Amino acid sequence: MCGIIGYSGEQNAPEVLLKGLARLEYRGYDSAGIAVLKGEVIKIIKKQGKLEILKEEIRLRPLEGTTGIGHTRWATHGEPSDRNAHPHNDHREDVAIAHNGIIENYKQLKKELEESGHIFKSETDSEVIAHLIAKEYKGDLRLAVNEAAKQLKGSFAIAVMHQNEPDRIIGIRKDSPLVVGLGKHENFIASDIPAVLEYTKEIIYLENNEVVDIKKGKCAVYNEEGVPIEKIATTIEWNIAQAEKTGYKHFMLKEIFEQPEVLKQTFKKRIKNNKEVVFEELRISEDVFKETRDITIVACGTAYHAGLTGRYMLEKYARLSVGVDTSSEFRYRDPLITKNTLVIVISQSGETADTLAALREAKKKGAKVLAICNVLGSTMAREADGVIYTHAGPEIAVASTKAYSAQLGILYLFTHYLARVRGEAGNCPADFIEKLTKLPELAARMLKHYRKNENKIKEYAAKFHQYYLASDNKSCFLYLGRNINYPNALEGALKLKEISYISAEGYPAGEMKHGPIAVIDENTWVVCIAVKSDTYEKMLSNIQEIKARGGIIVAIVSEKDLTLKGKEADYVIAIPETDEIFSPILVTIPLQLLAYHVASEFGYDIDKPRNLAKSVTVE
Ligand code: M6R
Repeated sequence: MCGIIGYSGEQNAPEVLLKGLARLEYRGYDSAGIAVLKGEVIKIIKKQGKLEILKEEIRLRPLEGTTGIGHTRWATHGEPSDRNAHPHNDHREDVAIAHNGIIENYKQLKKELEESGHIFKSETDSEVIAHLIAKEYKGDLRLAVNEAAKQLKGSFAIAVMHQNEPDRIIGIRKDSPLVVGLGKHENFIASDIPAVLEYTKEIIYLENNEVVDIKKGKCAVYNEEGVPIEKIATTIEWNIAQAEKTGYKHFMLKEIFEQPEVLKQTFKKRIKNNKEVVFEELRISEDVFKETRDITIVACGTAYHAGLTGRYMLEKYARLSVGVDTSSEFRYRDPLITKNTLVIVISQSGETADTLAALREAKKKGAKVLAICNVLGSTMAREADGVIYTHAGPEIAVASTKAYSAQLGILYLFTHYLARVRGEAGNCPADFIEKLTKLPELAARMLKHYRKNENKIKEYAAKFHQYYLASDNKSCFLYLGRNINYPNALEGALKLKEISYISAEGYPAGEMKHGPIAVIDENTWVVCIAVKSDTYEKMLSNIQEIKARGGIIVAIVSEKDLTLKGKEADYVIAIPETDEIFSPILVTIPLQLLAYHVASEFGYDIDKPRNLAKSVTVE
């Protein structure tokens, strides 16, 4: 939530900051602002609304300078408004800050500062940081930031400038991400790598409580005690095209189409000689997995759905009992975790506050924690005992698509790996790897058809839109799946909800008669995942039951199956045939496209849905 950026170099800072903010906008987009330092004056422009509004304001009132900080906001304390937008300064306008996180003790600090004469302008928790730093300033900004940080409770990544210190930006983090980008005669700090990718691929990941001090030709990192420390920069493999739309109307669509390639790379990097899975980067030894007695998977949102899918394969083939929990429940439930429990946290960003807290809780209980993350060097990747990266490239759209299929891909690989290491390889079908590695090709074929308009998803979405308007906005969606595709029912519903704001629920089809059937009438669109499976006949019965109550059926079927076409199903979406166990990756693609096109029919801002942010770094 919230993206911050800082720049010190030779370029025009507003331009660099605005470009960076555009790549951080996925983190929050209810207001944005920049502060630029020129000579001994800090000028701030900040506006409520999307970045475009700020850009327009800066076009009308240009700012100049080669040092600056910027912010894109997802409001926590104080409504979205010009006044509450960042950067914030102190009342004497000496200090400017951009903050991502939550300052839990801001009320107390504000009271003390007000008593000593500080005048506040906003309703935010963040403004206290600017006042506190101004109060602590005695000629060295880094020391002032250090002193102020010691008084802050909560989570923060902060970029700070002082008008007496030209070219200088100080950054500090605790429980909110912050990276440093090293350039030639210029340096950057940012909440995430895509913000600086256009300028540098040399990245330093800051640890909690580390402080970075950048100027155009200098970058130094200090620990909590103020002692300089050596940090090794990592060269990022991502390229800037991955962080751009490259002709697609939305990042979400681009990311849906990237899935075949993402899966191909996911498998290629880990499958040796077409038969064995090897994780080179894993920091957990095989002995730990041999001793594992049970698995708990913890994650939020889409990553949680990946975890639910993982349970089916891990239990079936690696023969371990698997529990799956949402992070926000796990962390407060005092779960039964032993040192022989393997806890797997799954997260695209590697920064989600609840999942991070769950990881720490699991470690405290003595469990080994394996993180499945997309963002290199993210907090979870660093704090877990071991990490497997999904390597899906930057995912910019708020709605997760390619990260989800990459997470599924990793879970298949990990299942095979675990089964081998634990001497259970015999449980896996002999053609497991062969069938798995066919998925990218099958996904590519399906997307090619779709591109050629042989797939009618867009048409169905338009039909739904008509129904919705005709039904006086009463139409809603129910998603039903069984077995390993049940989590996909949850995921399909989540995807639709988050970008088209239509009421949608996912259910195991077998639960339909225990409640959801009551909502079915002629306004209910029911997406039934009815691909070839052991429970196929049961799903056909569910479809009959829905039909009998007037529901509108959208059936996801295997391509050669004509059973439902032109009969019970009102709309049919066919996917390439594969074994049931491997079908979730293929099933999810039409579900993503359906959500995308419905949102598109309603004309919504698909990449930046209302009220949401890509990384939920606050509780
Ligand atoms: O970065 P994470 O994978 O930890 O994020 C978890 C959820 O916030 C995320 O999957 C969210 O549900 C997505 N917007 C779903 O599309």
